[in-house]
Order: sequence, then structure tokens, then C-alpha cells
Amino acid sequence: MQALWQDKKDREVGMKKIPVIIDCDPGHDDMVALVLALGNSRLDVKAVTNVAGNKVMEKVVRNTLNILNYCGVKREVAAGARRPLVREYLRTDTEGAHGISGLDGFDFPEENPLRCSDRTAIEVMAEVLRTSEEKVTLIATGPLTNLGLLIRAFPELCREKVERISLMGGTCHYILTKPFMEFNVFMDAEASKIVFGSGLPITMFGYDVTYNTLLELDFLKKLEKVGNRTGHMVSSLLQAFYQLHNKAWMEVEGCPVHDACAVAGVIDPSIVTESERMYVEIPTEPGPLSGATICDYAHRSGKPANVEVVFKMDRDRFQDMILDSVRALA
Ligand code: BDR
Ligand code: CA
Repeated sequence: MQALWQDKKDREVGMKKIPVIIDCDPGHDDMVALVLALGNSRLDVKAVTNVAGNKVMEKVVRNTLNILNYCGVKREVAAGARRPLVREYLRTDTEGAHGISGLDGFDFPEENPLRCSDRTAIEVMAEVLRTSEEKVTLIATGPLTNLGLLIRAFPELCREKVERISLMGGTCHYILTKPFMEFNVFMDAEASKIVFGSGLPITMFGYDVTYNTLLELDFLKKLEKVGNRTGHMVSSLLQAFYQLHNKAWMEVEGCPVHDACAVAGVIDPSIVTESERMYVEIPTEPGPLSGATICDYAHRSGKPANVEVVFKMDRDRFQDMILDSVRALA
């Protein structure tokens, strides 16, 4: 298979900044996604929006504000959907892969001057799209509830102003627990169906690539050696995440940072070394495949491709990118 994400790959790197909105539910790997994006000079992070996912809204907002404050960055942070569109919020306030707080493994200062916006995630996203001269890339690293709402509420605006949705979610071949299931897509299958069926350009960084791009354990030491606050925070949190992940899921030799993959692909699409466009469908009817990503990788459905599914990324460049961002922050 060859990388077919040509429209972006052909774009020259090193020119104008790329405007993005990050919709997330931190989460250790969301934290890396935020650090990577905020510290990278190619991206212009217009806003950070939150969705209930890894943890309930109060926790993911608190975690987002703590990350930004600790890295010395100010952005509008807006809370969005507190539960999936149709389904009950599947409580994940057990220990799981992200601990009780969602960011277990680091003590953030109790005092944080940053506050959550009075506006909702959807209001902020719509305004950023409306006022941006250029098209905006939406980076989604949590359940797709906010994006589903945005697309339903502002279909024209999205068609006009969304450059691409780069999302962490789904899986084509890689099976972690149930076949074709991945947390973000499964959590809000109805919203995922809206997003995948929207006709907007989508790049899917699912388990196929994220479990192929584990951070080397030695790399966590390199992060600490950067010697700044951000490096210390990221290194401490990833050490904890590695332990929690392996306890909750399965033993892997390396630390997964799923969400950061969806950011890296926007910073420099040529970091993707293997991807393919195909038709992807999200069944929502009750049954064993409800909330799965059914990827037509053999191109037998006859339906037009709607998603660029990523399979491999250059791990060395990914690690360098993360280090550069860490160095650029406080
Ligand atoms: C996704 O689920 C969450 O736990 C992570 O933050 C990531 O977005 C991986 O399936
Ligand atoms: Ca996430």
C-alpha cells in the first residue's frame, strides 16, 4: 500500500501557519497531542474544545487548563458535549488507562489562573471557522460528539471552512478488545456516523498506526533531559501512562500516544509512510458491531472512499517532533 494523502503532501512545508482547533478529552495521550500542537511553529491553535470521553467534562476541562497553564500557554478552552448524542455516557471514572483523574502520575499546582470559556465548544468552533480567512483543520482526539453537533448545526459553514478532519479513532485491522472497536468512535457511534458520513475530508489515525508508533521507553528519559517544566511533566505522565496502559489493556514494549499521531500528520503529512483511501462505515444498530469502524480495505463495497486510513508513520521523526515542541514550551 502506498501513502495516497497527496493533496496535503504536495503542500510545501515551512510556509503559512496551519489554523487548527483541537477537540480533546485529556487523557495522557491528549496531553501529548496538546503539547505537540502548542509547541510547534507550523500550527496556529485557534482554540481548544473539550468533550466528555476519557473522563467526565469537569475532569477533562480541569486537565486541559492544567496542561496549558503548566506549559505557559493561553488559549480559549471551551466545554462541549457532556454525553454522547444518543447513548448514555459510559462512565469511565474507574482507574483504567488514565487513572482516576484522567491524568494520574503528576501533581499539577493547585492554583491555576486559567478559566474555562463562557461559550460552548460549538459556539467557539463555529466562530473560529466563520472568522478565519483560511480553511481550518479540526483535530479530534476524543469521542466525536462535538464534531457531530457542529456538522449538523452548521453544515454549510463546515463545507466551506473545514480543510480536513484529522482524527484519532477507529481501527481497520488492529484488534485490541472487540473486532473493529476503538474507544473514541465506539463511545459515540451516532456522532461518529455523522462525521464519517459528512463528506468532509477525513484522515483516520486509528489503532493500526498508533500501535505501530509506540514511543521508545528511552525516549521518556530524553524528555526529562530537556530540563524544562514541560519535559518533566510529559515524561512523568507518560511513565505513569505506560504502566497504567499495560495494566489495563495489554503489555506493549513502548508507550502509545494515540492522539499525538493525529496532530503529527497535520504538522507534516509526509510523516505518514503508509495510508490508503477507502470507504469506512459506522454501524449504529444494536449488535456486536455497533460503534465499530468497518473499513472496506478490499474495495468490494462499490462505495466511494470517504476516509484516508493511516497505517504507518515514521516513528523517529514523530519522536523528534515531540521533543522540539517540548523544548519550545515553558
Ligand atoms: C483513545 O481513547 C482514549 O483513551 C485515548 O485518549 C485516545 O483518544 C484511544 O482509543
Ligand atoms: Ca483522547
